[in-house]
Amino acid sequence: MKRFRRLRTTETMRKLVRETRVSAEELIYPIFVIDGENIKNPVASMPGVYQYSIDRMDEVLGKVTDSGISGVLIFGIPAEKDEVGSQAYHPDGITQRAIRYIKEKYPEMLVIADVCLCEYTSHGHCGLVHGCHILNDETLPLLSNMAVTLAQAGADIIAPSDMMDGRVGAIRAGLDDAGFTNVPIMAYSAKFASGYYGPFRDAAHSTPQFGDRRSYQMDPCNKKEALREIEDDLEEGADMYIVKPVLAYLDVVEAAAQRFDVPLAVYNVSGEYAMVKAAAQMGWIDEKRIVMENMIAMKRAGATIIITYHALDVAAWLKEISL
Ligand code: PBG
Ligand code: ZN
Repeated sequence: MKRFRRLRTTETMRKLVRETRVSAEELIYPIFVIDGENIKNPVASMPGVYQYSIDRMDEVLGKVTDSGISGVLIFGIPAEKDEVGSQAYHPDGITQRAIRYIKEKYPEMLVIADVCLCEYTSHGHCGLVHGCHILNDETLPLLSNMAVTLAQAGADIIAPSDMMDGRVGAIRAGLDDAGFTNVPIMAYSAKFASGYYGPFRDAAHSTPQFGDRRSYQMDPCNKKEALREIEDDLEEGADMYIVKPVLAYLDVVEAAAQRFDVPLAVYNVSGEYAMVKAAAQMGWIDEKRIVMENMIAMKRAGATIIITYHALDVAAWLKEISL
C-alpha cells in the first residue's frame, strides 16, 4: 500500500513538499482613477474597491507599497467622453496625470497602463465606431498614440486590452518611433467576451451604449483560437500576454503556459471578485480560504503574474502565514 498520508502529517511537512506557492511579488493590483477632487467612491458591486481622484490616491498607493506587491494596473475615468475618445490620448488626460503622479512619488512601483478606448468614448466601445460597426484599422493609430502618451507619462508596461487586430504591432512601432524601445508590451491576447466583466463596467463607466463586444473580444468556446491569438501577438512584439478572465479559462491558461515560453499574466476579473465577496458577505464561504485556493489554482495552471482585486488582502494574509 502507498502511504501518501506520510507527507501530509503536519503543516510544516505539507509546506515542505508543496508544488505550488504564491508570493506578493507576482501580484498586480488594479486601480480606478477618476477626474475630480477629493473623491473616494465605493464601487457597489466590488466591495473594498473604490474610484479615487488623484489627490486621494495616496491612501491606496501607500498600502500597495507596504504590501510588497509589484505594481498597479491603472484605469482612468475621464470627466468628458466623446465619439473618438480624445481623452485617451491627451497628454494631460486623467490616466496620464495619474501615472505621472505615481511615478514621481512612488518611483519603485511598477505602473502598468491599460490601453483601450472604451472608458473614453461616448458609445463605450473599445474602438472607433461607424454606424454599428467597430472599425479596426482606423482605431490602430489612436491606440498607438495613447500608448506613447502613457509611456511619456512614465508607464513601465503597456497593456492593450482593446482586441483590435494588429494593435500590438502598431503600438510597438509607435513606442519605438517615440524612443520607448525599452517599454514592454503585456498584451491582453486571449480576452474573452465575458459576463464576468459586469462589475468592472460599473467601476470604469465603460458599458457599451449599443450592442456588445462579441465582434472583437473572443468567443468563450474557442481554445485553439486563443493559442493563435497569443502566438500572433508575440510575433507582433508582445513581451508578455494575458489570459482573461481566468477561473473559467484555466484550461486555456494551462495550454498556453505549456506552449509559450514568455511570462503569462492572468486577470482575475471583477465578476470573479464580486462572486467571492458576495458569498463571503453572506457568511456562506470562508473568504480567505477560497481566495487563496483560487490564487493557487491560477499558479498551478501556469500563471507567472496574477492581476487581482484581492491583491492587498492576499499580500496581508501571506505575511500572517509566514510569521
Ligand atoms: C476594457 C477592459 C475591461 C476589463 C479590463 N479592461 C472591460 C471590458 O472589456 O469590457 C475588465 C476587467 C474586469 O472585469 O475586472 N477594455
Ligand atoms: Zn475596452
